[in-house]
This record gives sequence, structure tokens and C-alpha cells, in this order.
Amino acid sequence: MSSVEVSAPGKLMFFGEHAVVYGYPCIVTAVDQRVKVSAEVSRDEKLRIEAPDVGLTDYSLEISKLGKKQDFPRGARFVAMAVYNFFNEYNVQSGLRITTQSDFSSEFGFGSSSAVTVAVIKGLSELFGAKIEGRDLFDLSYKTVLDIQGVGSGFDLAAAIWGGTLWFVAGGKTIIPLRTEELPIVVGYTGIKADTPTLIRQVAEKQKKHPDITTKIFEAISLVVQEAKGVLETKNWLVLGELMNLNQGLLDALGVNTRELSSLVCACREAGAYGAKLSGAGGGDCMIALVDEKTKEVAEKAIVNTGGRVLQVKLNAGGVRNESNS
Ligand code: MEV
Repeated sequence: MSSVEVSAPGKLMFFGEHAVVYGYPCIVTAVDQRVKVSAEVSRDEKLRIEAPDVGLTDYSLEISKLGKKQDFPRGARFVAMAVYNFFNEYNVQSGLRITTQSDFSSEFGFGSSSAVTVAVIKGLSELFGAKIEGRDLFDLSYKTVLDIQGVGSGFDLAAAIWGGTLWFVAGGKTIIPLRTEELPIVVGYTGIKADTPTLIRQVAEKQKKHPDITTKIFEAISLVVQEAKGVLETKNWLVLGELMNLNQGLLDALGVNTRELSSLVCACREAGAYGAKLSGAGGGDCMIALVDEKTKEVAEKAIVNTGGRVLQVKLNAGGVRNESNS
């Protein structure tokens, strides 16, 4: 095989963001917005990357110069580090052309970097016959993400690999698929791009200053997540909505809520949603609201009227897959 095309889904965090970084569980779902990676073996000793969605065209570098300390341009970082780690782990060296293309903007906080990382490593494993799957794929992808951003729980990698809805504990200590139906969720984008590592570091500062209080907040978030797991199965949306509101309050206490997120959350609640919360690192990006048939449209209008943008996504999407034969 000399070329391959692989796709991996983005994600939405349901419950448990930030606390998951400290070893508590979270619930994440994969969305039907995918990142596609094409990888092709080339004869020259170069890694060429095209990532037009993030403004990167015609980037190339000698394979021999690929190194951990390299200062890769923004759009190339995760791809180049994934290639470097794969080559090291599987003792491979080859020229490559890699092109990435995303169904969604990297601004939304759907985890495009993680989806790209998973898709690149999976693609290379197919190209070079390494057959990396499941846990091994997670471990190498997680190493790659940590090599670049230094922090993160890896929950978004798990969503990109396994898809569906997952119970996830930091670093992939536990990853369990949850059986959920299509949840009646609306997604609102604030229009503000948030930087996850910065927000993780802000919470770490808070943790340093107020260790006892923040630990209690993480524990409370963990209780919300555990209760939500049961409620997802019984489909009691009233209770699930309350749990979302509780989670939102706790995230606010951690300092990651913003005026824009709050406005969208409140607008959805006023529109009759069962509950609403930010989804992801906070500081901008997206919020989610749990609705029913009647309130969906009203909540969507409320998001738009409050200055947000509605993102249409389906949940429980499939995990990483080889698209070459489809
Ligand atoms: C970001 O989407 C969610 C965080 O919990 C970070 C992480 O788990 O890696 C804030």
C-alpha cells in the first residue's frame, strides 16, 4: 500500500471537563464532524504537509531533521510529531505527503488536533503494516499530544479512536463505552476560540492557591458525572438537565465560564431547555443544551439572538476508520 485515507471524529464533552485532568471521570461523545487525513509514501526524504483548513500549504521538511525539539509551524505540529513518534516507535523512515481536511473549524473546540493525531498514526500504521489499534493507538497518540502541549487528559483521543459515547478516566486508565441513544442536544458556538492548555493551567493555578476548595469542586463534579452515567441510561432528561446545570455552576466556580458562554446557557434555559452548560475547556468555544422536540427550535433561536451560532452535529459518531476502500 502506498497511500491511505483515514478519518476520525471530533468530540463534545458532556460532563466532567477539568476534573478529568485530575484523575476523575468524564463523559464524552464523538460527533459526526470528521477530520480526514491522506498519507502517501514519497520517494524523496521529505515530509510534506498540506493543511489548507488551518492555512498551511506547501510545508516540507527533511525527514532527517524531524525531531522532538523542532519548532513546527502551528498547522503542522500534531502531524509532524505524530510522524516522528510513529517512526521512532516502529523503526520506520520514509518520505511522506500528508494532507489534512476537516469538516469543522478548528475554532470550535471539537478536538481537531486530537482527531488529526489519531488519524495520522492510524494512517501510518496502515501504510507501513504496523496495525496499531485500540490501546496502542491511544498510547502513541497521547504521547504525541503531551509532547506538544504538555497537558491534557486524552479524553478527546479516546473519542476519536473508539467513537460513540465513553466513560473516560484521565490518561485512559478506564475507557468504557456507554449505551446512549441520540441525545436531544443543541450546540451553540460563542464565536470565541479558547486555548485549552491555557485554561488547564489557569485551573492548576487555582488548585495551587485553593487546594482544598478546588479538590471539593472536582469531587462534586465527579459525583455529577457518576449520577449522569446512570441517568443517561434511564433517559430522565429532567434530571440530566439538572445535572448539566450543576456541572455548569461548578465550572463557573473554577473560573472557566465567560460572559458569552453564560449568555448562551441562560438563553437556552429561558427557552425551556432541561439544562445547559459549557462543553470543553471553557473560556469560549461551545456550550450544549438538553432540549426536547418542542424546545429545540426555540433554544436554537435563542442562541442566535444572543450572538451565538448553532452547530448542527449528530452524536455517537463512529471512531477512526480507513476510508480508502469506501
Ligand atoms: C477540554 O476540552 C477538556 C479539559 O478537561 C482538558 C482535558 O481533559 O484534556 C479541560
